[in-house]
Amino acid sequence: MSILEIKDLVVSVEGKVILEGINLTVKGGETHAIMGPNGTGKSTLAQVIMGHPKYVIENGEIRLDGVLLNEKTVDERSRLGLFLGMQNPVEVPGVTNFDFVRAAVQAHLPQGQHLRLGKFILSLEDAAKELKMGSGLAHRHLNEGFSGGEKKRNEILQMKLLRPKIALLDEIDSGLDVDALRIVGENVTAMKSPELGMILITHYQRLLDTIVPDVVHIILQGRIVKTGGRELIAKIDAEGYDWLKAELGIETWEEPEKTPVSLGTCATKKPGPLRG
Ligand SMILES: Nc1ncnc2c1ncn2[C@@H]1O[C@H](COP(=O)(O)OP(=O)(O)OP(=O)(O)O)[C@@H](O)[C@H]1O
Ligand SMILES: [Mg+2]
Repeated sequence: MSILEIKDLVVSVEGKVILEGINLTVKGGETHAIMGPNGTGKSTLAQVIMGHPKYVIENGEIRLDGVLLNEKTVDERSRLGLFLGMQNPVEVPGVTNFDFVRAAVQAHLPQGQHLRLGKFILSLEDAAKELKMGSGLAHRHLNEGFSGGEKKRNEILQMKLLRPKIALLDEIDSGLDVDALRIVGENVTAMKSPELGMILITHYQRLLDTIVPDVVHIILQGRIVKTGGRELIAKIDAEGYDWLKAELGIETWEEPEKTPVSLGTCATKKPGPLRG
């Protein structure tokens, strides 16, 4: 069983602190939902866990099965078992979907082991069928001209083939029509096992009706300010976040003033109090 541990994580992008001290542990078999208003740092958290070089870790650590990830590259993290289904999947003209997934699966095999092409093609076809994806998508350039829903299904296709230990799914429901949401939900739910821990970032209850989480976290202003059970989802759906801001003494909700970080001192930057 795998374990992702995030401790006191402070992250900045282009000198602006976005995450102000995140603590989160996700174990194999668990599904955690992360919700929160726009711009509060949810995608930043997903991207920094996966190792996007744009984000600077000012403080804290990210570990997978005890291995410190802070300095590891994206491909190293992927080989260790992390997967990110992106909010906005990137278009890569010139690389076919087929070649991309094949290269990714090959890169996950132990050194010296070669992908068995016939077996790979069969599993790709099965996965595409289970996701009810058009047959031509495998041979088109990665995400180029894909509809929003096709891009999201394609992320799940990759997840099915890569079989991660910890999967981060960032708004995998955005852009999906009602039927596609059900199909994606069923496919992700079918992957649930003690070998897979998941973080689902979403704004909506409808995804979490399909992929039922064990724990729900709410992020505000770069921090997890509340953790609870499924009752939080219904409350957010009905009432938004004002009750929580009131509970926390945050009167206004405006783009928070972020403290500029001097690159020379950033490694020692500690989180400050929640701003009102
Ligand atoms: N390169 C950047 N330069 C400056 N600010 C950035 C940069 N990238 C992200 N941010 C800011 O970081 C904050 C958090 O963004 P993030 O994408 O993590 O939010 P989110 O919680 O995922 O929002 P949403 O629900 O809209 O997807 C936002 O205010 C965003 O504008
Ligand atoms: Mg986001």
